[in-house]
Amino acid sequence: MIYRYNIVGVFFLVLVSISVNTEGHSISQFLTRKTKGTKWAVLVAGSRGWINYRHQADVCHAYQILKAGGLKDENIIVFMYDDIANNTANPRPGVIINNPHGHNVYKGVPKDYVGDDVNAKNFFSVILANKSGVVGGSGKVLKSGPNDHIFIYYTDHGSPGMITMPSGEPIYADELFNMLKKKHVSETYDRLVFYLEACDSGSMFDGILPKGLNIYAMTASKPDENSFGTYCGESTPVDSCWGQCPPPEFKGICLGDLFSVTWMEDSDVQDRKTNTLHGQYIRVAKRTAANLTYDKYGSHVQEYGNKVVSFDPLAAYMGETSKNHSHDSVDAKSFSTSSSRNVDQRSTELFYLVTKHQNAPEGSDEKYEARVKLNEVMSQKSQVDNNVKHLGDLLFGAEKGNEILHSVRPAGQPLVDNWDCLKSYVKIFETHCGRLTVYGRKHVRGIANICNAGITSEKMAAMSAQACSS
Ligand SMILES: *[C@@H]1O[C@H](CO)[C@@H](O)[C@H](O)[C@H]1NC(C)=O
Ligand SMILES: *[C@@H]1O[C@H](CO)[C@@H](O)[C@H](O)[C@H]1NC(C)=O
Ligand SMILES: *[C@@H]1O[C@H](CO)[C@@H](O)[C@H](O)[C@H]1NC(C)=O
Ligand SMILES: *[C@@H]1O[C@H](CO)[C@@H](O)[C@H](O)[C@H]1NC(C)=O
Repeated sequence: MIYRYNIVGVFFLVLVSISVNTEGHSISQFLTRKTKGTKWAVLVAGSRGWINYRHQADVCHAYQILKAGGLKDENIIVFMYDDIANNTANPRPGVIINNPHGHNVYKGVPKDYVGDDVNAKNFFSVILANKSGVVGGSGKVLKSGPNDHIFIYYTDHGSPGMITMPSGEPIYADELFNMLKKKHVSETYDRLVFYLEACDSGSMFDGILPKGLNIYAMTASKPDENSFGTYCGESTPVDSCWGQCPPPEFKGICLGDLFSVTWMEDSDVQDRKTNTLHGQYIRVAKRTAANLTYDKYGSHVQEYGNKVVSFDPLAAYMGETSKNHSHDSVDAKSFSTSSSRNVDQRSTELFYLVTKHQNAPEGSDEKYEARVKLNEVMSQKSQVDNNVKHLGDLLFGAEKGNEILHSVRPAGQPLVDNWDCLKSYVKIFETHCGRLTVYGRKHVRGIANICNAGITSEKMAAMSAQACSS
């Protein structure tokens, strides 16, 4: 039996290599043989507000890529709050760009789920094609079949084990995984690819997503690493972005996120029939690492799930490129050395306020207001940092507290053993210490470690109350 399989395998390989050798075209035929089903995509911007311009710009650009690749609007489902194009702060009303030299990516984007319809419940219902679970929006759901390919792209802020939506509850990693498992059980896809941009995005899949679901996930960063906004408007006149700054009127705003624009500018310029997801991963990892300097301006792109899927051509998920493709991007030559200003996502609000403050005329109301807001944000940050530190001291002692809260589990282990514990302890913390902000949610890892250390909920409540009583 095994012998016979081997013969067949060898025969198949020989056939493939003969046809590759005899005719250059065959390699692409081989690569595309799996693309017979329908291609579906779900695109999600998880934030709202002018300061977060980049997430909706990313999603709009992703739509243009898929549309140019031949996917039909009926198969592309877009979640975006839609408060950017017409924002009073937008220097180009009705237009969204995702690159300093880019064209309008807002044009034609379907508004399937906008405003408060962009929430976790609708996101899950759409992917599971549960029409009765959808509230508001276009009602479009992922009605995929067993031969279909699905591409999901999500971009936003994130924190350990959690991503958020502009409205309603956050999405914890276990909930995302349970949803994907349900989709797998429903046998309504052949292969599924998930690109995720967020701070700590690796923590959404690490130690959680197994190989067996035919799902391949690529994340912007390791489980304990920031992801970065890019094409960020200079904060000072002397700051050079080497030609990659946004137009000057976009002060303090990042036009895109580093991992996101990197995969998209790659998809814009590559031949998607012959280039695989794996090839894209190699190129994207290099640029997202800021030319392998990582450090303060880049992150480690990660892969999870079934890596065999990554040897599919890009075209199997994103469609095929037409010849005229580069209008949303910088040209291919500048790709690998692009060095625009990057700002870690948790610092983008500060970056915006500092820029605003610096640019406001001396003595103006605008300057005063920016100063006040800046002070407020800084003091909120130090307050939540202090609260969490205090809580750690109370629970584990002044010596061990910091170490336990900040410890990172080895790769391959999930953030927390008991997700329900994490969710309830986050709620306990918020009850006593105030709601966690985008910045404050970085401490979710500390709360996970409190669960992992076996602290009871009574103790968690009592110590949180004490830590945050002043
Ligand atoms: C933005 O403004 C344009 C022109 O006034 C209008 O057609 C469009 O509906 C507006 N979009 C949103 C999301 O408000
Ligand atoms: C669809 O969503 C509704 C509302 O959330 C839920 O009650 C129902 O169980 C879901 N159906 C399936 C098949 O998951
Ligand atoms: C590409 O764009 C150029 C200039 O706009 C045009 O002349 C050419 O016909 C286009 N080619 C294709 C294949 O669409
Ligand atoms: C990236 O690294 C290469 C090789 O070390 C170097 O030639 C290039 O100038 C670097 N690019 C940037 C933007 O630092």
